[in-house]
Amino acid sequence: MLGRKVINLKDVESTNSYAQKLAQADYPEGTVVFSEKQTKGRGRQGRSWLSLEGKGLYMSAILRPPFDAQEAQILTPLSAAAVCMALRNLGFKAMVKWPNDIYISGKKVSGILTETTLSANKIAYAVVGIGINLNHTKKDFPLELQQKSTSLRMEKGFPAKRRQVADKLIFNFNMLYDELIKSGHINSSIKICNEYSFLKGKIVTIKNQGCTITGLARKINSNGSLSIKKKDGEIKEVVSGELNKTIS
Ligand code: BTN
Repeated sequence: MLGRKVINLKDVESTNSYAQKLAQADYPEGTVVFSEKQTKGRGRQGRSWLSLEGKGLYMSAILRPPFDAQEAQILTPLSAAAVCMALRNLGFKAMVKWPNDIYISGKKVSGILTETTLSANKIAYAVVGIGINLNHTKKDFPLELQQKSTSLRMEKGFPAKRRQVADKLIFNFNMLYDELIKSGHINSSIKICNEYSFLKGKIVTIKNQGCTITGLARKINSNGSLSIKKKDGEIKEVVSGELNKTIS
């Protein structure tokens, strides 16, 4: 379903913003926008996403899952599982860093930005934006990111083919999304997120909805939340705070 309509751009501010406009203009579910570069690539929490020409995969997809607003959060673990499996299919030891990052060798290689628009407490549409660092060298990253970031080329020593990565990503996404539409759950995605969890067994500090929780990261739950065991033994389930907007 994803990829039923593909739009390839040379240059755009943000594929997520572009896909949002298409979604508002009633483009169908499964429409995918790729761009060779972005001039205002966006990340979570107001951050920017480095989007150099020819160096990365910058993709956004329009989804219209027929679910209630509170289920919107499952799209991020589903997308993370799809990216993780696509990279694993290509021979990379990719891990899911809850909630929306993919890591290789302890460094970030990919990020996901899910933006959901709600109507009458239902998901009107969602735009899932995925950025993957393909052919960056260390000096392509700003100094402050150089120790924390990697690319497929840096991991393997030879250039990655954007088309090959995109095809694997769309294939895996469609398999996992199909499960969601047919069964209403994302068990396979959650299984992948847990099997390749970067945080599991690590002590984490997570700022969420105004409070800070520190504890041992445990499993990712069926709704996409992360279980954390605090020092006093209490188990907290942290829901990732995605930004939702509402239309009437
Ligand atoms: C993050 O790690 O904070 C999420 C990064 C998401 C980046 C992708 S690149 C394609 C799409 N368009 C954007 O402007 N952002 C997403």
